[in-house]
Amino acid sequence: MNARRFAQQIALAAAPALLAGCVDSQSVLNPQSGEAHDLARLFWIFTTVCSLVWVLVVAALLTLLLRRRRPDSTPETDNLEQQSRKTAVVAGLVALTAVILVLFTLGSFYTTRGLIAPGPHPLLIKVTGAQWWWQVEYEDSDPTQVFSTANEIHIPVGRPVTFDLEATDVIHSFWAPNLMGKQDLIPGHRNSLTLTADKPGEYRGQCAEFCGLQHSHMAFLVVAQTPAEFWAWRQAQLKPAAPPASGQQALGQHLFVEGSCATCHTISGAGAGGKTGPDLTHFGSRSTIAAGLMANTPSNLAAWIKDPQELKPGVNMPQVPLSDHDRGAIVAYLEALK
Ligand code: CUA
Repeated sequence: MNARRFAQQIALAAAPALLAGCVDSQSVLNPQSGEAHDLARLFWIFTTVCSLVWVLVVAALLTLLLRRRRPDSTPETDNLEQQSRKTAVVAGLVALTAVILVLFTLGSFYTTRGLIAPGPHPLLIKVTGAQWWWQVEYEDSDPTQVFSTANEIHIPVGRPVTFDLEATDVIHSFWAPNLMGKQDLIPGHRNSLTLTADKPGEYRGQCAEFCGLQHSHMAFLVVAQTPAEFWAWRQAQLKPAAPPASGQQALGQHLFVEGSCATCHTISGAGAGGKTGPDLTHFGSRSTIAAGLMANTPSNLAAWIKDPQELKPGVNMPQVPLSDHDRGAIVAYLEALK
């Protein structure tokens, strides 16, 4: 890897945090759902008790060391009474340790059990992890209400959301620290996770299980919205793609659908039905490209289409030979898909 490439990779690694705008949007210490509050409480109980124990152990150790270093100190021989008192103290401390460990185990068990208990009338979202992006499908008993998106998950506040988690290739882990604990996505096995967001906000999530070369570039965004905002977003996502509004966009659509893009990507209503890559029906409404790699801007999208391997080495997206003119048309078309 040459110096320029290395610097580029470092900048890309830092980009998601910059994109998130604020450290608070990816932090277990800023819980924004009932489940995350429970986990944060558990964290503070563990931290407080363990810190207290550590301070007591170190204080006892220092006291003994200082006593032994005193020049006038002579080895003492315990009498029977002192010996039995020491034995009682040691037994008490062992029993206290056992009690603390049992309480920790119970606290951890009941808190994590709460994370998989489905709430009443949950919104069902199927999230499928793939190298290195997230397919997001909003489930419904009515097939006309089902739609797909990628890497950006909108949820309503105040309503339980149950995520059904699977993977297509290797094990990934779904984790938006402000909202939930980690849960693995395993090929051939379905896990689930439920949460209820407290208040509107944007929270960054990240794959938390090493899953290959671009593991660190497998981010997602959870957008918690008021029920009315969520409903409006959902209705917009259910619509087919907007038709081209200019000659340039029409050319972009033609190149996309007739060229190799449609082999992997779906644009509903435009005749593109590929399933191996992200659904791009409303691509222009998303804030990032390539699972949180870059902000969704026309110039970033053009750079991404021009050479995906340069920006995210190992990604499945191939380099498609296109003239600048044709690439510009595809960018204009995709960015208009709000
Ligand atoms: Cu997917 Cu790490």
